[in-house]
Amino acid sequence: MDKKVLVVGGGGRCHAIVDALSRSPKVGKIYCAPGNAGIAAQAECVPLKDTQVGELKEFALDNAIDLTVVGPEASLALGIVDEFESAGLRIFGPSKAAATIESSKDFAKRLMAKYGVPTAAYETFEDYGKAVEYVRGHSMPVVLKYDGLAAGKGVVIPDTFTEAETILREMLLDDMFGKGKVVIEDFLTGPEFSLMCFVDGEKVYPMALSQDHKRAYEGDRGPNTGGMGAYSPLPFITDEDMEYSMEKIMKPVAAGLVREGCPFKGVLYGGLMKTPDGIKVIEFNCRFGDPETEVVLPRLESDIYDIFSSVVDGTPMSEIRWSGRATMGFVMASEGYPGHYDKGFEIKGLDALSDNQDVRVYHMGTAFAGPGQETADNGIVTAGGRVLMVVGFGRDLQEAHDKALKAVEQVDCSNLFYRRDIGWRVL
Ligand code: AMP
Ligand code: GLY
Repeated sequence: MDKKVLVVGGGGRCHAIVDALSRSPKVGKIYCAPGNAGIAAQAECVPLKDTQVGELKEFALDNAIDLTVVGPEASLALGIVDEFESAGLRIFGPSKAAATIESSKDFAKRLMAKYGVPTAAYETFEDYGKAVEYVRGHSMPVVLKYDGLAAGKGVVIPDTFTEAETILREMLLDDMFGKGKVVIEDFLTGPEFSLMCFVDGEKVYPMALSQDHKRAYEGDRGPNTGGMGAYSPLPFITDEDMEYSMEKIMKPVAAGLVREGCPFKGVLYGGLMKTPDGIKVIEFNCRFGDPETEVVLPRLESDIYDIFSSVVDGTPMSEIRWSGRATMGFVMASEGYPGHYDKGFEIKGLDALSDNQDVRVYHMGTAFAGPGQETADNGIVTAGGRVLMVVGFGRDLQEAHDKALKAVEQVDCSNLFYRRDIGWRVL
C-alpha cells in the first residue's frame, strides 16, 4: 500500500527502524529527519533536527504523513508526541509525562518503590554536603546517577571516595549537565540485559531479548558509552526469568504509569540485571535502545507498521513473531569516543558489504563528504562518536559473531575502533 511514514532521528536505531518499515508492504514512502548517509539509501532524508518539534509537525502536516515514529529520547522529553497528537497526527511514542520514566531517574525510582518493582536501594540528593556525607557512610562502590538526560554520561561508578567527591562536585556544584539532583544507589552485580516492550497503557508485548556492552574497551573496561555492541537472543535468560521480568517488572510499571495518570504508549525499555538476589531494574528508557534495536528488529518477522498502528490506535495486537536466527553487532566508533573525537574520515569498503546476505550495516553517525573532499564508495565519512553498527546473522550466536567480525575487518577507515569481544559472556 502507500502509507507515508516519518521517522524522527538519525542514528543506527533509526536506520534499523527504517529498515524494518521498508519490509512492510503497507509502507510506500519513508522520510527520516535528519537521517544519515546510510539511511539515505532507504528513506528520503529531511534536514530537520530531532529537537525541531514545531518544524517536524509542520512537515508531517504538509506531507500528509500517516504515521510518525520517534527514535531519540530528546524529542520525547520535549513533548513531540503531545504536540503531534494535538494537531491530529498519528505518532508512535510516549507523551512528555510518560517519558519522564527516562528523563528523571528520581521519578523512575519513586515509581518502582511505590509499585514494589525490584531495584537497587537508593537516596536522592540536591545538596552536595549531604550527598558526600551519605557516600562517606557507605562502602564503595556506589553508583552516582545524574537526575536528568545526560546523553548516556550521567552514570558514574567511582572506585574511591575522592573520585566520588569530585563527581558529586561536578554534578551538584558545577552543574556539568545543568542544575539537578543526583540519585545515589547501591552497586549490584550480575549480567545485564535489555527487555524492550511495545506498550499500550496496561498492555505489554515483549520483543526478543538482547544484551548491550556499555564499556568502551575489551574486557568490559574503560568509560561507559552509549553501547559498543549487542546480540540477540540471550541463552542465559530462562523462561522463568522472562516471566518474572514481565509479571514483576514490565507489567506493574506500565500499570503504575496508567494509575499515575501518564499512560505509556511506545517502547518501554527495561535495562535489567540478573543479580544473585533475583532480577532487578537498572534503568528504564522510554524508547528503542541503541544498539539493541539493530540486533532485535532484524529478527522481527511481523509487520512493524501493524505493530506501531496497534499501539497508536489502541487496537488489538496480532501475535508478534521472531525469527530463530541469531544476530550480533559490533559498533565501530571514532577514536577518542566517548570523549573528544574528530569527524570527517573517509569510510571505504561499505559497497562490498551491501551484497552480503549474512551482514547488515546500520549507520550510526555518518554523512556524505562535503564539496572538495575526495572519497571512494559513495563518499561516506564519519560524523559522530558511534559511526557504524555491523550486524552478522547466523544459525547461532557464534556464527553471527564470526560473520559480523569478518565484515568489520573489511571496513576501511583510519579513525575507527571496536571491541572484538562482543558476546564474550555466551561464546
Ligand atoms: P544506566 O544509565 O542507569 O543504565 O547506567 C549505565 C550503566 O551503569 C548500566 O548499564 C550499568 O552497567 C551501570 N549501573 C547502573 N546502575 C548500577 C547499579 N546499581 N549497580 C551496578 N551497575 C550499575
Ligand atoms: N543501549 C542503551 C540505551 O539505548 O540506552
